[in-house]
Amino acid sequence: MILSGTARLAGIAGWPVAHSRSPRLHGFWLQQYGINGAYVPLAIEPAHFPAAVVGLMRAGFAGINCTIPHKMAAFAVCDDVDESALRAGAVNTLVFADGRIRGSNTDGWGFLRNLRAHGVDPAKGPALLLGAGGSTRAIAAVLLDLGVRVTVANRTRGRAEALANELPGLGVIDWDRRDAALADHALLVNTTSLGMAGHESLEIDLDRGARGLTVADIVYVPLETSLLAEARLRQFQCVGGLGMLVYQAVPGFRAWFGVDPVVDEALSRFVMADLP
Ligand SMILES: NC(=O)c1ccc[n+]([C@@H]2O[C@H](COP(=O)([O-])OP(=O)(O)OC[C@H]3O[C@@H](n4cnc5c(N)ncnc54)[C@H](OP(=O)(O)O)[C@@H]3O)[C@@H](O)[C@H]2O)c1
Repeated sequence: MILSGTARLAGIAGWPVAHSRSPRLHGFWLQQYGINGAYVPLAIEPAHFPAAVVGLMRAGFAGINCTIPHKMAAFAVCDDVDESALRAGAVNTLVFADGRIRGSNTDGWGFLRNLRAHGVDPAKGPALLLGAGGSTRAIAAVLLDLGVRVTVANRTRGRAEALANELPGLGVIDWDRRDAALADHALLVNTTSLGMAGHESLEIDLDRGARGLTVADIVYVPLETSLLAEARLRQFQCVGGLGMLVYQAVPGFRAWFGVDPVVDEALSRFVMADLP
């Protein structure tokens, strides 16, 4: 696309940002819909983040996504945040309008959409979440809001307890209890960085899983983590992390470029072609 002077602009702020697949993802949609616009990587040092966001708004950007380590700082820089951001305690999508910065968090929504796209009802039964990081909170919040019983197990128990203080109703068990707890859950979600390329694998005894268990991994590099491979061997339904990445991008694209983009096989194949 050759840009004109009225091109719409958006991007992703991270530090570093080179690993991000978002420019590729949004670039696919921009091309597909023939939109006069661009979505660019924005490598912004944490100390410069607040000034950079205001500068981007003043320069006419329609908004940005924020990734590690900026999601909390993005929350702080907003004039308005919606319920999704309040529940997640972090912002991944900023929309600039009328000189104001509006923040939301689409990670939890993207997770739910991905489950549903795989034919999984997120409210099918109790959920066991491994981890207590930023993504755990976003996912726990949307599941709790659906009325699901949610339990977290994290290596550092204090971090899980801090999360439970923020999200009333969230249960906490010791990390060492994760195998035994499987029998009582319909959905297992890995929200740790275990299984990611360059990290250790997640150790969990899936033989303890209940019949009909769904195993979701939000790690998407590699696409098929050892957790998913082990779950597939046992014929549990599996949901990989790529779909969450793709769906979380939809609300931002719609707000910045005015088109509700379709998530389909062609898009997933295009994003996957860049993954190991
Ligand atoms: N698919 C998507 O769209 C999507 C979106 C967001 C994130 N992700 C992926 O999700 C993962 C987590 O992201 P995040 O932002 O939530 O990370 P984070 O806030 O840094 O949290 C990392 C979590 O992993 C746990 N962990 C790390 N090393 C561990 C180990 N050796 N043993 C046990 N637990 C360990 C940490 O436990 P402690 O508290 O004990 O340190 C913590 O709970 C990353 O791989 C990220 O790429 C995917």
